Amino acid sequence: MPQLFEPLTLRDVEFRNRIWLTPMCQYSCEACDGIPTAWHFVHYATRAVGGFGLVLTEATAVAPEGRISPQDAGLWNHDQMAAWRRVVDAVHANGAKIGVQLAHAGRKASTYRPFAGEPSGSVPVDAGGWEAIGPSAVAFDGYATPRAMTLADIDDVVDAFVDAARRADEAGFDVVELHAAHGYLLHEFLSPASNRRDDEYGGSFENRTRLLLRIATEVRGAWPEAKPLFVRVSATDWAETGWNIDETVRLARELKSVGVDLVDTSTGGNVPADIPVGPSYQVRFASEIRRGADIATGAVGLITEPAQAEAILTEGDADAVLIGRAGLREPYWPLRAAAELGLTWRETPYPAQYTRGAWEHA
Ligand code: FNR
Repeated sequence: MPQLFEPLTLRDVEFRNRIWLTPMCQYSCEACDGIPTAWHFVHYATRAVGGFGLVLTEATAVAPEGRISPQDAGLWNHDQMAAWRRVVDAVHANGAKIGVQLAHAGRKASTYRPFAGEPSGSVPVDAGGWEAIGPSAVAFDGYATPRAMTLADIDDVVDAFVDAARRADEAGFDVVELHAAHGYLLHEFLSPASNRRDDEYGGSFENRTRLLLRIATEVRGAWPEAKPLFVRVSATDWAETGWNIDETVRLARELKSVGVDLVDTSTGGNVPADIPVGPSYQVRFASEIRRGADIATGAVGLITEPAQAEAILTEGDADAVLIGRAGLREPYWPLRAAAELGLTWRETPYPAQYTRGAWEHA
């Protein structure tokens, strides 16, 4: 059996395979209320039907001011939780596990959604936007300058992550992933490029990692022991003076020690940078973390072909591959991968509804 289709067990959760849908914002909440809609239901359920082992939701805000755009989904109240539960049930009914990516956009909050033909940059307060917060009053590349967070703001953000994790359990999610990548709040604290604080949350490695480790520890305490906790990191800022892979490996060891089960390894997003984008371009970072911190990793970034994905696992660079844009354009990517890698009809994760007559051709 190809490695891609070998089940993976983390804590008490078994994933039917190692092809996972990466988090991707849909910017599709209609009333700017953070409540997932029919779009989310169809989008996520379709990927479960398509054979993914784990469907990770888009960045899901833990507080209203933590949304990237006004149309982002959230998990800061009961109504959002109840709507997510319908999505969770539909994904489960089709054989996949589902995780929620809990997020706070920090200084990159309150922006227009990046749809073709729509405006870009920060949404002004008088046009439905809000004041963004961040570790320091340092703007991201042309965005509005955020307000530097007080210690009380930091405590509120920690509580918001913990409350959202409790709601995630109530909704039936199998995995929580903390979003500490792509220049959003938790990454902003990690990186000296965005964190200029001179209190216990800024300066040294210990101080810059304090917020993420505090949230990981407290979420771990609130999230069931039987369910895995992931963290998505940007392994490097791709900048001389920014966050880097050595710090990421060191952080991964600490995350492991507070009960994090897998590091989902991306890069960039905190400062403008010249990124050498190409097939599998981030895999080496997943590999370095896996070997250096002895923790499970997920690899993501321009993984588009089944043989390419399979090689990442057989080389021992990651424990799972995350598929993004290829899975938007081809929701049944895992079913194609099964065919290309030689699985029989019986071994392929087809829903029962699609198997009529199949065995005659097996
Ligand atoms: C993303 N990405 C992303 N990442 C994340 O951690 N949380 C998110 O909500 C989003 N949102 C998002 C929306 C859309 C439309 C795209 C295309 C991407 C990044 C994504 O998870 C992934 O890391 C990259 O897309 C690279 O993988 P692919 O697309 O090359 O397979």
